[in-house]
Amino acid sequence: MKTTIARAARLAAATVVLGTALAPSAASALDSIGEGRRLYLKYNCYGCHGMRGGGAMGPRLIGEAEFSDVREKVLFGADEGMPSYGRFMTSTDIANLAAYLGTLGRKNEPVFTHWWEKVPSR
Ligand code: HEC
Repeated sequence: MKTTIARAARLAAATVVLGTALAPSAASALDSIGEGRRLYLKYNCYGCHGMRGGGAMGPRLIGEAEFSDVREKVLFGADEGMPSYGRFMTSTDIANLAAYLGTLGRKNEPVFTHWWEKVPSR
């Protein structure tokens, strides 16, 4: 019992820290491409498209980043299991995602994984 309560308290504390890091008031330290990478990780796009867009259960996204296409698929989803994210994404989010997807396989592609940090350390 004790352990369960301690664990719950730790979890609550961690949630508060995470919440603070994600508060909209916190000034963003990433550019549009970095923010797109952050969204890609935060919304688990990588779960279907691979950590760097190389494809898995979902198609490979490298070289596929036409803005209108990204907007359409992300807002409305598609057959074959692409979910719709229209409820969660702002137009800025879509623009950031498209900017990020456009860098896949290029020199300026961000590859950080710690999306919850204001300035991802790795
Ligand atoms: C549950 C798995 C899944 C998740 C999660 C997912 N996708 Fe997809 N995605 C797919 C599938 C499957 C397709 C192919 C749909 C089709 O055939 O039209 C697709 C298609 C796409 C396309 C069009 C690719 C092309 O070549 O036409 C883009 C862009 C895309 N996804 C971006 C994203 C982004 C950005 C996210 C996160 C916000 C995301 N996806 C999350 C499965 C997923």
